[in-house]
Amino acid sequence: MFSRMLYGGDYNPNQWGKEVWKEDMRIFRDARINSATVNVFSWSKIQPAEDVYDFSELDEIVDMLSAEGYDIVLATATGAMPAWMVTRYPETARVDFEGRRHRFGGRHNACPHSPVFQKYAARLAEKLAERYGSNPHIACWHISNEYGGECYCPECEQQFRLWLRRKYKTLDALNDAWNMEFWGHLVYSWDEIVVPNALGDAIGREKTAFAGLSIDYRRFMSDSILENFKMERDAIRRYDKTTPITTNLMGTYKGLDYFKWAKEMDIVSWDNYPAYNTPWSYTAMRHDLMRGLKDAPFMLMEQTPSQQNWQPFNSLKRPGQMRAQSWQTVAHGANTIQFFQLRRSRGACEKFHGAVIAHVGTEDTRVFREVAQLGRELEAMGDTLLDAKNPAKVGIIFDWDNYWALEYTSGPNVELKYVDQIHRYYKYFYERNIPVDMIPVDADFSKYSMVVAPVLYMVKDGMAEALEKFVSDGGTLVTTFMSGIVGQSDNVHLGGYPGPLRRLCGIWAEEIDALAPEQSNAVKFADGGEHKCGLLCDLVHLEGAESLGSYAADFYAGYPAVTRNAFGKGAAYYVATQLEADGLAVVMDRASGEAGIKPVIDEPTKLEVTRRSGKNGDFYFVMNLGGEEQPLPSRFAGKTDILTGKTAPSVLKTWDTVIIKG
Ligand code: GLA
Ligand code: ZN
Repeated sequence: MFSRMLYGGDYNPNQWGKEVWKEDMRIFRDARINSATVNVFSWSKIQPAEDVYDFSELDEIVDMLSAEGYDIVLATATGAMPAWMVTRYPETARVDFEGRRHRFGGRHNACPHSPVFQKYAARLAEKLAERYGSNPHIACWHISNEYGGECYCPECEQQFRLWLRRKYKTLDALNDAWNMEFWGHLVYSWDEIVVPNALGDAIGREKTAFAGLSIDYRRFMSDSILENFKMERDAIRRYDKTTPITTNLMGTYKGLDYFKWAKEMDIVSWDNYPAYNTPWSYTAMRHDLMRGLKDAPFMLMEQTPSQQNWQPFNSLKRPGQMRAQSWQTVAHGANTIQFFQLRRSRGACEKFHGAVIAHVGTEDTRVFREVAQLGRELEAMGDTLLDAKNPAKVGIIFDWDNYWALEYTSGPNVELKYVDQIHRYYKYFYERNIPVDMIPVDADFSKYSMVVAPVLYMVKDGMAEALEKFVSDGGTLVTTFMSGIVGQSDNVHLGGYPGPLRRLCGIWAEEIDALAPEQSNAVKFADGGEHKCGLLCDLVHLEGAESLGSYAADFYAGYPAVTRNAFGKGAAYYVATQLEADGLAVVMDRASGEAGIKPVIDEPTKLEVTRRSGKNGDFYFVMNLGGEEQPLPSRFAGKTDILTGKTAPSVLKTWDTVIIKG
């Protein structure tokens, strides 16, 4: 896809005078910047009026970058609508959750079903492709920007009804799917269906009276916005058949079903903005998810070289931190490192957002020196890593339908959050340097020895059978409380939890207790060890499974809390409560031991060690992502750090990173 690692980021020379451009080029050369993402928010510049297009400035920018030999990431500029469009065609703006039609302002807020928006967005993408598509320096197309949000306008409502007609065919089927007998919500005409915002069936922002309806609206919105992406993509393809096309995703962003999106994208790209206190395991999980979307290397489209402006506390990246964070990103499968942005804005809400060139305007800054160091390292890496994969024998299921459904439930516990539950299991593997793939529910499980499916709340048709096959063929499955509860429309699988997973898990759960944050129980394991648990406690009966640990307290003391069911050649583990990390480790050590799961290196270490493997060999990324200094694992002693060309140090201080060819 690319011939080298792209290094650069969002670049907005149009916000500056031309005298600055030349200076930029000189400074970027010094940092080995070889790529720029341009035209992200330039719609109002290149189409100043409905019938006027003016590409003269963009021509100059593209010419300048081409002359410098850049790999240009060319955006289609449709992420922010021009004022003339929203003013003349108010229906291009969205109607929000409260039912208010927005006016001109903001960004990422076009109604996906507005025919005017669609017409002009597609036309712009086509014109850009016609004009620049044959320029060999265009390395990638970047459609719109950070798609997201939702619209509740009358046009979207009408389109939703059509979407539902295609899905359900009859109103009987729809009434049944959404369980509309509840509260007497039966509808007798498609026109009676109302979008689920604050004026309809929503309960606050987070909950809903009819999850079947609200989940369908999320599916519909994700599909609708995806149609906008496809429309621009197809417009580009009329003139440019080959250049990869992407749009920048946002990790675990809730609103869009990224597994579905990735099928339409040539390469996944994403924007990584951890907060000052985001655990590194959480960032690693999001990288793995982005890699998992296409099971392929991805682009890091944005990160800040120093600080952000939109978090509550925008701390600086400490010296060395940006470098370590960037290599962690590459370690998990990125083939590009791109910043938002290359020159810091002089006005508007992002003037406090870090950039490669700060307000001082020179290269004489700490941040620039660190950017330049990383630039030299990436340049030296050449194409070495571009084909390298991250082989893993563990798959953790991530599923947007489950994300939506689980968090729409009213009860049993308001603290139950989907990504948090996934992260608890991811973290177990992360801390042991065990590689993980984040996989969709319809993945090919046979590639894995172990599949982990935390809170697999919604089990759609065929999923239980696929998991049964995986286990009976010898796989190890770990699933948890709040699994197997509902089908695709959020109606309960009757006959006892965990519904279609009951046979596989060899248990049934009669009741689910919810614990407040200040409450806890404990799980007593066979070896006598006791470990704290909370959030939810299933009251489980064994039906063939063995109990590995039981509750220590309350009226269900002695009930199984962790079970294992031998099934065919494999086994299914059921974790009936939320265990804290030490207790979870007891279960996971056993399950992963049984599955023969191995860390990337045999030695235990507090360093992150991540491996990419490709035609040029195995590369071990060894990183100290904070905390105390740590000894280099003995396996790497005396080996060369390919970043410095010198022998790797025997001790890694905070932010130290070495890459060793294994
Ligand atoms: C997002 C956007 C950028 C910019 C950055 C700031 O990722 O895509 O345009 O606003 O955030 O962090
Ligand atoms: Zn709309």
